[in-house]
Amino acid sequence: MKEFEFYHDVNGNVVALLAEGKAPLGMTKIEPKAADVGQEKHIPVVKHEGGVLKTICGEVPHPMTPEHHISWFAVASEDKISFVYIPTDGPAEACFPEVEHGVAYSYCNLHGLWKKEF
Ligand SMILES: [Fe+2]
Repeated sequence: MKEFEFYHDVNGNVVALLAEGKAPLGMTKIEPKAADVGQEKHIPVVKHEGGVLKTICGEVPHPMTPEHHISWFAVASEDKISFVYIPTDGPAEACFPEVEHGVAYSYCNLHGLWKKEF
């Protein structure tokens, strides 16, 4: 399964590396976390619902406030990656075209990048 690489700069900007190559200059690779710790849940829950793939963050609803929120979800499969940006007043969920297998990502403005293979 293809996994995309994400990087951030000193200003907190996040980019996805869309082609094979070296890390962008001056940027730090973000290692997505694959296991939740503590009470807050960030790992995207993936549901296949009638031809739509739905991502929800997470098992316990994530806070959605201007100060602390899920900024976006992404779903990567063999040949594509799709992003859905989430308004800060939520809810922390998104719908994507159905794919059988892939990697779902969620990005919390405070707690970073999370992933779930499905
Ligand atoms: Fe968070």
